[in-house]
Amino acid sequence: MVKVTFLGHSAFYVESEGLRGLIDPFLTGNPMATSKPEDFPDVNFIFVTHGHGDHIGDTVSIAKNTQATVISNFELSHFFQKQGLMCHPMHIGGVFKFPFGRVKLTNALHGSDVEVEGELVPGGNPVGFLLELGGKKIYHAGDTGLTMDMQLLEKEKVDIAMLPIGGNFTMDIADAVRAVGMIRPEIVIPMHYDTFEVISADPQAFRDQVPQGVRTEILKAGQFLEI
Ligand code: NI
Ligand code: MN
Repeated sequence: MVKVTFLGHSAFYVESEGLRGLIDPFLTGNPMATSKPEDFPDVNFIFVTHGHGDHIGDTVSIAKNTQATVISNFELSHFFQKQGLMCHPMHIGGVFKFPFGRVKLTNALHGSDVEVEGELVPGGNPVGFLLELGGKKIYHAGDTGLTMDMQLLEKEKVDIAMLPIGGNFTMDIADAVRAVGMIRPEIVIPMHYDTFEVISADPQAFRDQVPQGVRTEILKAGQFLEI
């Protein structure tokens, strides 16, 4: 059993046997978020797709309070380790078997620099996460444009895909629909839209275009899905 709770923007809370995990925990300053960092006192892993502020979010404070291990690319791990966090560095294409399940880092077409005191610090390559937990597979694309690499995911038989639809920085609805056609997940959850005006998108319009046979779950912050 896997429980996936949407927290707004690209943030999710994923619970499964041995995992109380946050993905891209942008809560403070997130106009879509209905939860606070304190609402997750027993997180044990935090997954960070890339270095942008709307994805690192509250990673540092939550990891310090919970002793959670941060899973990210090698370069971001270095950045987090310097701040005293426990990290498990990985990289694109790499798989590691954790006690809760398997994690694979996938390619994302985007940037990953971290803003530190007004300057951009290199943050390696952006990634997505393919998580295999409780007999299910979850793919969180991170921020990305449409890429043919997504075709590689079809064979994985993904149960839930979280895909950005907001455009401007990532895929828009049209490209996210094409991504769904390549990945063919059981369920798709749209993310990374409406948080800011520049990424306004209508998730109903996305749902209307998603290929038949794929269920679209439009979640509001705080709503969850159990599979
Ligand atoms: Ni980004
Ligand atoms: Mn973003």
